[in-house]
Amino acid sequence: MTLLVAIENWIPELWLDRFRRLAPDLEVIDARAPFDPAAARFAAVWKPKPGLLAGLPKLEAIFNLGAGVDALLADPTLPHVPVVRIVDPDLTARMTEWVVMNVLARHRRMDDHRAAQGRAEWRSIHQPAAGSVTVGLMGLGVLGKDAAAVLGRLGFDLVGWSRSRQVVAGVETFAGAAELPAFLARTDVLVVLLPATPETRGMLNRDLFRGLRGAEHLGGPVLINAGRGSLQVEADIVAALDAGELAHAVLDVFEVEPLPKTSPLWAHPKVTITPHCAADSDADALGRRVIGGIRALMAGEAIDPAEVVDRRRGY
Ligand code: NAP
Ligand code: GLV
Repeated sequence: MTLLVAIENWIPELWLDRFRRLAPDLEVIDARAPFDPAAARFAAVWKPKPGLLAGLPKLEAIFNLGAGVDALLADPTLPHVPVVRIVDPDLTARMTEWVVMNVLARHRRMDDHRAAQGRAEWRSIHQPAAGSVTVGLMGLGVLGKDAAAVLGRLGFDLVGWSRSRQVVAGVETFAGAAELPAFLARTDVLVVLLPATPETRGMLNRDLFRGLRGAEHLGGPVLINAGRGSLQVEADIVAALDAGELAHAVLDVFEVEPLPKTSPLWAHPKVTITPHCAADSDADALGRRVIGGIRALMAGEAIDPAEVVDRRRGY
Protein backbone atom coordinates (compact mmCIF):
# COMPACT_ATOMS: atom_id res chain seq x y z
CA MET A 1 0.00 0.00 0.00
CA THR A 2 1.50 3.31 -1.04
CA LEU A 3 1.03 6.83 0.30
CA LEU A 4 2.26 9.70 -1.84
CA VAL A 5 3.26 12.79 0.16
CA ALA A 6 3.11 16.07 -1.78
CA ILE A 7 3.74 19.18 0.31
CA GLU A 8 4.54 22.69 -0.86
CA ASN A 9 5.40 25.59 1.51
CA TRP A 10 5.98 23.38 4.57
CA ILE A 11 8.89 21.03 5.40
CA PRO A 12 8.14 17.76 3.52
CA GLU A 13 10.92 15.82 5.34
CA LEU A 14 9.13 16.30 8.66
CA TRP A 15 5.89 14.82 7.35
CA LEU A 16 7.62 11.99 5.44
CA ASP A 17 9.44 11.05 8.63
CA ARG A 18 6.22 11.07 10.70
CA PHE A 19 4.27 9.00 8.18
CA ARG A 20 7.09 6.44 7.95
CA ARG A 21 7.33 6.18 11.73
CA LEU A 22 3.58 5.98 12.28
CA ALA A 23 2.96 3.41 9.55
CA PRO A 24 6.05 1.29 8.85
CA ASP A 25 3.84 -1.09 6.85
CA LEU A 26 2.99 1.64 4.30
CA GLU A 27 5.30 2.58 1.48
CA VAL A 28 5.63 6.36 1.83
CA ILE A 29 6.87 8.12 -1.28
CA ASP A 30 8.08 11.67 -1.76
CA ALA A 31 6.41 13.48 -4.67
CA ARG A 32 9.56 15.58 -5.19
CA ALA A 33 11.51 12.53 -6.40
CA PRO A 34 10.68 10.40 -9.49
CA PHE A 35 8.03 7.77 -8.60
CA ASP A 36 5.71 5.26 -10.27
CA PRO A 37 2.34 7.08 -10.67
CA ALA A 38 0.48 3.73 -10.72
CA ALA A 39 1.75 2.91 -7.22
CA ALA A 40 -0.03 5.69 -5.30
CA ARG A 41 -3.32 4.62 -3.71
CA PHE A 42 -3.52 7.48 -1.20
CA ALA A 43 -2.09 11.00 -1.20
CA ALA A 44 -1.40 13.29 1.75
CA VAL A 45 -1.06 16.82 0.44
CA TRP A 46 -0.79 20.50 1.20
CA LYS A 47 -1.07 22.81 -1.80
CA PRO A 48 0.31 20.20 -4.22
CA LYS A 49 1.42 21.34 -7.67
CA PRO A 50 -1.68 21.59 -9.92
CA GLY A 51 -1.97 18.53 -12.15
CA LEU A 52 0.13 16.25 -9.92
CA LEU A 53 -2.81 14.22 -8.60
CA ALA A 54 -4.47 13.89 -12.02
CA GLY A 55 -1.71 11.58 -13.16
CA LEU A 56 -2.30 8.88 -10.52
CA PRO A 57 -4.53 6.17 -12.05
CA LYS A 58 -4.98 4.07 -8.87
CA LEU A 59 -5.62 6.94 -6.45
CA GLU A 60 -8.44 6.14 -3.98
CA ALA A 61 -8.49 9.18 -1.66
CA ILE A 62 -6.74 12.50 -1.07
CA PHE A 63 -5.98 13.62 2.49
CA ASN A 64 -5.62 17.40 2.73
CA LEU A 65 -3.24 18.24 5.60
CA GLY A 66 -5.28 21.24 6.75
CA ALA A 67 -8.91 22.13 7.40
CA GLY A 68 -9.32 24.45 4.41
CA VAL A 69 -9.39 22.85 0.96
CA ASP A 70 -9.60 25.94 -1.24
CA ALA A 71 -6.07 25.59 -2.66
CA LEU A 72 -6.65 21.94 -3.49
CA LEU A 73 -10.08 22.45 -5.08
CA ALA A 74 -8.68 25.28 -7.21
CA ASP A 75 -6.90 22.61 -9.31
CA PRO A 76 -9.32 21.94 -12.23
CA THR A 77 -7.60 18.61 -12.90
CA LEU A 78 -8.24 17.27 -9.39
CA PRO A 79 -9.37 13.65 -9.82
CA HIS A 80 -12.86 12.63 -8.68
CA VAL A 81 -11.88 10.65 -5.61
CA PRO A 82 -12.92 11.51 -2.03
CA VAL A 83 -11.11 14.49 -0.51
CA VAL A 84 -10.68 14.22 3.25
CA ARG A 85 -9.85 17.37 5.25
CA ILE A 86 -8.49 17.75 8.76
CA VAL A 87 -10.93 17.69 11.63
CA ASP A 88 -8.78 17.03 14.67
CA PRO A 89 -8.83 18.18 18.31
CA ASP A 90 -5.22 19.38 18.04
CA LEU A 91 -5.92 21.79 15.17
CA THR A 92 -9.27 22.84 16.66
CA ALA A 93 -7.73 23.62 20.05
CA ARG A 94 -5.01 25.72 18.41
CA MET A 95 -7.60 27.81 16.57
CA THR A 96 -9.70 28.27 19.69
CA GLU A 97 -6.61 29.46 21.60
CA TRP A 98 -5.92 32.04 18.90
CA VAL A 99 -9.51 33.28 18.73
CA VAL A 100 -9.91 33.50 22.50
CA MET A 101 -6.51 35.17 22.91
CA ASN A 102 -7.45 37.89 20.45
CA VAL A 103 -10.99 38.45 21.71
CA LEU A 104 -9.62 38.78 25.24
CA ALA A 105 -6.75 41.04 24.16
CA ARG A 106 -9.26 43.48 22.66
CA HIS A 107 -11.82 43.14 25.44
CA ARG A 108 -9.20 43.53 28.22
CA ARG A 109 -7.59 46.42 26.30
CA MET A 110 -4.08 45.03 26.27
CA ASP A 111 -2.84 47.65 23.77
CA ASP A 112 -3.87 50.41 26.20
CA HIS A 113 -2.13 48.64 29.08
CA ARG A 114 1.05 48.21 27.03
CA ALA A 115 0.96 51.89 26.04
CA ALA A 116 0.48 52.94 29.70
CA GLN A 117 3.34 50.65 30.71
CA GLY A 118 5.53 52.34 28.08
CA ARG A 119 4.86 55.65 29.85
CA ALA A 120 5.48 54.07 33.31
CA GLU A 121 1.91 55.12 34.03
CA TRP A 122 -0.16 53.34 36.72
CA ARG A 123 -3.61 53.82 35.23
CA SER A 124 -6.72 51.79 35.75
CA ILE A 125 -8.58 51.27 32.46
CA HIS A 126 -12.33 50.69 32.50
CA GLN A 127 -13.06 47.02 31.76
CA PRO A 128 -16.71 45.96 31.53
CA ALA A 129 -17.83 42.36 31.99
CA ALA A 130 -17.54 39.87 29.12
CA GLY A 131 -21.32 39.61 29.04
CA SER A 132 -21.54 43.18 27.77
CA VAL A 133 -19.71 42.20 24.55
CA THR A 134 -21.38 40.26 21.75
CA VAL A 135 -18.99 38.12 19.73
CA GLY A 136 -20.37 37.23 16.30
CA LEU A 137 -18.98 34.03 14.85
CA MET A 138 -19.11 33.92 11.06
CA GLY A 139 -18.91 30.21 10.39
CA LEU A 140 -20.36 27.72 12.85
CA GLY A 141 -18.49 24.66 11.67
CA VAL A 142 -15.99 22.58 13.60
CA LEU A 143 -13.82 25.60 14.48
CA GLY A 144 -16.59 28.14 15.05
CA LYS A 145 -18.49 25.85 17.42
CA ASP A 146 -15.42 25.08 19.52
CA ALA A 147 -14.47 28.76 19.82
CA ALA A 148 -18.10 29.48 20.80
CA ALA A 149 -17.97 26.90 23.58
CA VAL A 150 -14.91 28.49 25.20
CA LEU A 151 -16.01 32.10 24.67
CA GLY A 152 -19.40 31.20 26.15
CA ARG A 153 -17.71 29.69 29.20
CA LEU A 154 -15.92 33.04 29.64
CA GLY A 155 -19.28 34.80 29.66
CA PHE A 156 -19.34 36.53 26.26
CA ASP A 157 -22.71 37.02 24.62
CA LEU A 158 -22.65 34.99 21.38
CA VAL A 159 -24.30 35.11 17.99
CA GLY A 160 -23.39 32.95 15.02
CA TRP A 161 -23.97 32.90 11.27
CA SER A 162 -23.72 30.05 8.80
CA ARG A 163 -25.10 28.88 5.47
CA SER A 164 -27.58 26.40 6.92
CA ARG A 165 -29.18 26.99 10.31
CA GLN A 166 -27.14 25.58 13.18
CA VAL A 167 -28.37 24.91 16.69
CA VAL A 168 -25.58 25.66 19.15
CA ALA A 169 -26.11 25.84 22.91
CA GLY A 170 -25.71 29.39 24.19
CA VAL A 171 -25.51 30.94 20.71
CA GLU A 172 -28.25 32.89 18.96
CA THR A 173 -27.93 31.67 15.39
CA PHE A 174 -28.61 33.28 12.02
CA ALA A 175 -28.46 31.66 8.59
CA GLY A 176 -28.02 32.72 5.00
CA ALA A 177 -27.80 36.06 3.23
CA ALA A 178 -31.26 37.18 4.40
CA GLU A 179 -30.26 37.01 8.09
CA LEU A 180 -26.77 38.47 7.69
CA PRO A 181 -27.79 42.09 8.46
CA ALA A 182 -29.51 41.05 11.72
CA PHE A 183 -26.43 39.04 12.72
CA LEU A 184 -24.09 41.97 12.02
CA ALA A 185 -26.34 44.42 13.88
CA ARG A 186 -25.90 42.31 17.05
CA THR A 187 -22.10 41.93 16.67
CA ASP A 188 -19.39 43.88 18.52
CA VAL A 189 -16.46 41.59 17.71
CA LEU A 190 -16.67 39.72 14.41
CA VAL A 191 -14.73 36.43 14.39
CA VAL A 192 -14.47 34.97 10.89
CA LEU A 193 -13.99 31.22 10.53
CA LEU A 194 -15.48 30.75 7.07
CA PRO A 195 -13.96 28.75 4.21
CA ALA A 196 -12.80 30.37 0.97
CA THR A 197 -15.46 29.65 -1.67
CA PRO A 198 -16.84 31.65 -4.59
CA GLU A 199 -19.70 32.79 -2.29
CA THR A 200 -17.49 34.03 0.53
CA ARG A 201 -14.94 35.82 -1.68
CA GLY A 202 -14.67 39.53 -0.83
CA MET A 203 -17.52 39.50 1.66
CA LEU A 204 -15.48 41.25 4.38
CA ASN A 205 -15.87 44.64 2.75
CA ARG A 206 -16.83 48.15 3.79
CA ASP A 207 -20.58 47.57 3.35
CA LEU A 208 -20.42 44.64 5.73
CA PHE A 209 -18.30 46.55 8.27
CA ARG A 210 -20.87 49.37 8.28
CA GLY A 211 -23.50 46.88 9.43
CA LEU A 212 -21.59 45.92 12.60
CA ARG A 213 -22.58 47.26 16.01
CA GLY A 214 -19.36 47.63 18.03
CA ALA A 215 -18.92 48.13 21.77
CA GLU A 216 -18.05 51.50 23.30
CA HIS A 217 -15.07 50.30 25.35
CA LEU A 218 -13.61 48.68 22.21
CA GLY A 219 -13.86 51.97 20.32
CA GLY A 220 -16.20 50.41 17.73
CA PRO A 221 -16.47 47.11 15.87
CA VAL A 222 -13.51 44.72 15.84
CA LEU A 223 -12.71 42.34 12.96
CA ILE A 224 -10.86 39.09 13.66
CA ASN A 225 -10.25 36.93 10.56
CA ALA A 226 -8.58 33.52 10.57
CA GLY A 227 -10.73 32.05 7.77
CA ARG A 228 -8.99 32.90 4.50
CA GLY A 229 -7.54 36.04 2.97
CA SER A 230 -9.77 35.85 -0.12
CA LEU A 231 -12.72 36.74 2.11
CA GLN A 232 -11.36 40.19 2.91
CA VAL A 233 -10.94 43.35 0.86
CA GLU A 234 -7.81 44.78 2.44
CA ALA A 235 -8.21 48.25 0.95
CA ASP A 236 -11.67 48.37 2.58
CA ILE A 237 -10.26 47.26 5.94
CA VAL A 238 -7.72 50.10 5.88
CA ALA A 239 -10.38 52.62 4.77
CA ALA A 240 -12.81 51.43 7.47
CA LEU A 241 -10.11 51.65 10.17
CA ASP A 242 -9.12 55.14 9.05
CA ALA A 243 -12.76 56.27 8.99
CA GLY A 244 -13.43 54.84 12.46
CA GLU A 245 -15.90 52.29 11.10
CA LEU A 246 -13.67 49.56 12.49
CA ALA A 247 -11.77 50.01 15.74
CA HIS A 248 -9.25 47.25 15.12
CA ALA A 249 -8.51 44.34 12.78
CA VAL A 250 -6.74 41.17 13.84
CA LEU A 251 -5.70 39.26 10.72
CA ASP A 252 -4.06 35.86 10.35
CA VAL A 253 -4.82 35.46 6.64
CA PHE A 254 -4.30 37.75 3.66
CA GLU A 255 -5.26 38.31 0.03
CA VAL A 256 -1.63 37.53 -0.88
CA GLU A 257 0.56 35.39 1.39
CA PRO A 258 3.18 36.07 2.56
CA LEU A 259 1.76 39.56 3.08
CA PRO A 260 3.84 41.83 0.79
CA LYS A 261 6.22 44.19 2.63
CA THR A 262 4.51 47.08 0.85
CA SER A 263 1.12 46.37 2.44
CA PRO A 264 -0.23 49.29 4.52
CA LEU A 265 -1.53 46.70 7.01
CA TRP A 266 1.95 46.07 8.44
CA ALA A 267 2.41 49.51 9.96
CA HIS A 268 -1.20 50.34 10.66
CA PRO A 269 -1.63 51.16 14.38
CA LYS A 270 -5.06 49.51 14.47
CA VAL A 271 -3.99 46.21 12.90
CA THR A 272 -2.63 43.08 14.56
CA ILE A 273 -0.98 40.58 12.21
CA THR A 274 -0.09 36.92 12.65
CA PRO A 275 1.43 35.04 9.67
CA HIS A 276 -1.23 32.40 8.95
CA CYS A 277 -0.36 30.45 12.07
CA ALA A 278 -3.65 30.63 14.01
CA ALA A 279 -3.95 26.85 13.83
CA ASP A 280 -0.80 25.19 12.56
CA SER A 281 -0.94 21.64 11.22
CA ASP A 282 1.04 19.51 13.65
CA ALA A 283 2.76 16.59 11.92
CA ASP A 284 2.42 14.20 14.88
CA ALA A 285 -1.27 14.80 15.58
CA LEU A 286 -2.37 15.13 11.97
CA GLY A 287 -0.09 12.33 10.75
CA ARG A 288 -1.90 10.02 13.17
CA ARG A 289 -5.24 11.31 11.93
CA VAL A 290 -4.35 10.65 8.26
CA ILE A 291 -2.94 7.18 8.95
CA GLY A 292 -6.12 6.39 10.92
CA GLY A 293 -8.19 7.48 7.91
CA ILE A 294 -6.16 5.35 5.51
CA ARG A 295 -6.52 2.32 7.76
CA ALA A 296 -10.28 2.89 7.97
CA LEU A 297 -10.58 3.03 4.19
CA MET A 298 -8.41 -0.06 3.80
CA ALA A 299 -10.73 -1.87 6.22
CA GLY A 300 -13.76 -0.80 4.17
CA GLU A 301 -14.99 1.61 6.88
CA ALA A 302 -16.47 5.03 6.20
CA ILE A 303 -14.74 8.30 7.10
CA ASP A 304 -16.65 10.70 9.38
CA PRO A 305 -18.79 12.86 7.03
CA ALA A 306 -17.52 16.04 8.77
CA GLU A 307 -14.08 15.24 7.32
CA VAL A 308 -15.24 14.51 3.78
CA VAL A 309 -15.29 17.55 1.52
CA ASP A 310 -18.43 18.35 -0.43
CA ARG A 311 -16.89 19.49 -3.69
CA ARG A 312 -20.08 21.16 -4.89
CA ARG A 313 -20.22 23.39 -1.79
CA GLY A 314 -16.47 23.97 -1.95
CA TYR A 315 -15.73 23.08 1.69
P1 NAP B 1 -16.36 23.75 8.50
O1 NAP B 1 -16.55 22.80 9.64
O2 NAP B 1 -16.56 23.26 7.12
O3 NAP B 1 -17.33 24.99 8.77
C1 NAP B 1 -17.50 26.01 7.83
C2 NAP B 1 -18.59 26.94 8.31
O4 NAP B 1 -18.72 28.01 7.38
C3 NAP B 1 -19.98 26.24 8.38
O5 NAP B 1 -20.72 26.72 9.47
C4 NAP B 1 -20.61 26.69 7.06
O6 NAP B 1 -22.03 26.71 7.06
C5 NAP B 1 -20.09 28.10 6.96
N1 NAP B 1 -20.19 28.59 5.59
C6 NAP B 1 -19.59 28.14 4.48
N2 NAP B 1 -19.97 28.85 3.41
C7 NAP B 1 -20.84 29.78 3.85
C8 NAP B 1 -21.57 30.81 3.23
N3 NAP B 1 -21.52 31.03 1.92
N4 NAP B 1 -22.38 31.57 4.00
C9 NAP B 1 -22.48 31.35 5.34
N5 NAP B 1 -21.80 30.38 5.99
C10 NAP B 1 -20.97 29.62 5.26
O7 NAP B 1 -14.92 24.38 8.54
P2 NAP B 1 -13.93 24.56 9.80
O8 NAP B 1 -13.23 23.29 10.06
O9 NAP B 1 -14.68 25.19 10.89
O10 NAP B 1 -12.86 25.58 9.17
C11 NAP B 1 -13.27 26.84 8.68
C12 NAP B 1 -12.15 27.48 7.89
O11 NAP B 1 -11.12 27.92 8.76
C13 NAP B 1 -11.41 26.58 6.90
O12 NAP B 1 -12.13 26.38 5.72
C14 NAP B 1 -10.12 27.35 6.68
O13 NAP B 1 -10.26 28.23 5.59
C15 NAP B 1 -9.94 28.13 7.98
N6 NAP B 1 -8.77 27.69 8.74
C16 NAP B 1 -7.77 28.58 8.97
C17 NAP B 1 -6.67 28.21 9.69
C18 NAP B 1 -5.59 29.19 10.02
O14 NAP B 1 -4.55 28.79 10.58
N7 NAP B 1 -5.79 30.46 9.76
C19 NAP B 1 -6.57 26.90 10.19
C20 NAP B 1 -7.60 26.02 9.94
C21 NAP B 1 -8.71 26.42 9.20
P3 NAP B 1 -22.88 25.35 7.28
O15 NAP B 1 -22.75 25.06 8.76
O16 NAP B 1 -24.24 25.70 6.88
O17 NAP B 1 -22.21 24.30 6.43
C1 GLV C 1 -4.90 26.16 7.55
O1 GLV C 1 -4.99 27.23 7.06
C2 GLV C 1 -5.87 25.11 7.38
O2 GLV C 1 -6.73 25.25 6.51
O3 GLV C 1 -5.79 24.11 8.12
